[in-house]
Amino acid sequence: MTDILAILHTAETTHSLTKAEIVLLLATNEYDQQLFMAADRVRSKYVGDEVHLRGLIEFSNVCQQNCFYCGLRKDNAKVKRYWLTPDTIIELASKAQGYGYKTVVLQSGESDVYTIADMHYIISKVKALGLAITLSVGEKTKAEYEVYKKAGADRYLLRIETTDREIYKKLHPGMELENRIRCLTDLKELGYEVGTGCLVGLPGQTIESLADDILFFKAIDADMIGLGPFIPNSDTPLAGELGGTFVTSLKVMAITRLLLPDANIPATTAMETLNKEGRITALNSGANVVMPNVTEGEYRQMYLLYPGKICINDTPAHCRGCITGKIMAIGRQVSNKYGYRVKNKQ
Ligand code: 5AD
Ligand code: SF4
Ligand code: FES
Repeated sequence: MTDILAILHTAETTHSLTKAEIVLLLATNEYDQQLFMAADRVRSKYVGDEVHLRGLIEFSNVCQQNCFYCGLRKDNAKVKRYWLTPDTIIELASKAQGYGYKTVVLQSGESDVYTIADMHYIISKVKALGLAITLSVGEKTKAEYEVYKKAGADRYLLRIETTDREIYKKLHPGMELENRIRCLTDLKELGYEVGTGCLVGLPGQTIESLADDILFFKAIDADMIGLGPFIPNSDTPLAGELGGTFVTSLKVMAITRLLLPDANIPATTAMETLNKEGRITALNSGANVVMPNVTEGEYRQMYLLYPGKICINDTPAHCRGCITGKIMAIGRQVSNKYGYRVKNKQ
């Protein structure tokens, strides 16, 4: 099995692997520690020891899509829907800045609750605070993405979720994988830093399919890659499924780090939901970003993508202190920079 060590060596030195090699890494658990350590070295070498914090504002849980895995899907009548006013969103961003965040992530379900003019207003006001802005509001037209970019948005998160055509079709009624790829291409062309990622452990997903996901991140040269386990939600059609595991998610993340050495990779909330040291373990296995929640009050409980989501009863101030403590405890520092991707000239 030393061929696994040879594959790890190739990955660490060339940042390139074949699909067959990725499948081999995913198929054995014997060399997981070596994989995580290699990803940690590559992280340290390319993006350093600083951890970038992004303050996450979940500004509306209204969604017109029906993704089978997600608690916010349109057909989930149990969800009490909310949408914050533009001025409330701007105020949350301002408070996030007060806690020392340099970036806010404005995330919502996919909907038309906010007009393009509303979004323009929110983005330009938040930008005027001196914050970097990441949007995560779903599939839109290129024209809309362009308005947001001109208003001051810097980055955009849109996970591909899975590159497996069959699975994508089954889990996303009324949506097309092609359109999602079109969105990512448009965003790149408009000059956004583009984030994508996948769910690990979807029904029917194989390690071959996960290898394709990783190669997709590389092929589009993603600036950010967020991924985590699929956690079954009892109020969705996937209630009875098994879901993904922490270790497989961590492995997919570590391999992603090896192949995209200078990307920004978050230690995701879903990982911590399955393992109480999940984010720290991820930070020690290739991740360099954390996205603490800065949504306030009852709205945290109402943005329930999956059960067991962490921090739903905590305050923004508490989470900020909590995560800073954890980061310092592993000898890393919280960055005071914007944390744009710095492309390595190799
Ligand atoms: N388990 C884990 N992650 C989920 N997401 C949605 N539903 C779930 C779930 N049940 C993720 C999707 C989406 C992101 C905002 O949340 O990947 O892109
Ligand atoms: Fe809506 Fe996003 Fe959930 Fe899909 S994953 S149902 S688009 S909030
Ligand atoms: Fe929210 Fe630790 S980050 S309680």
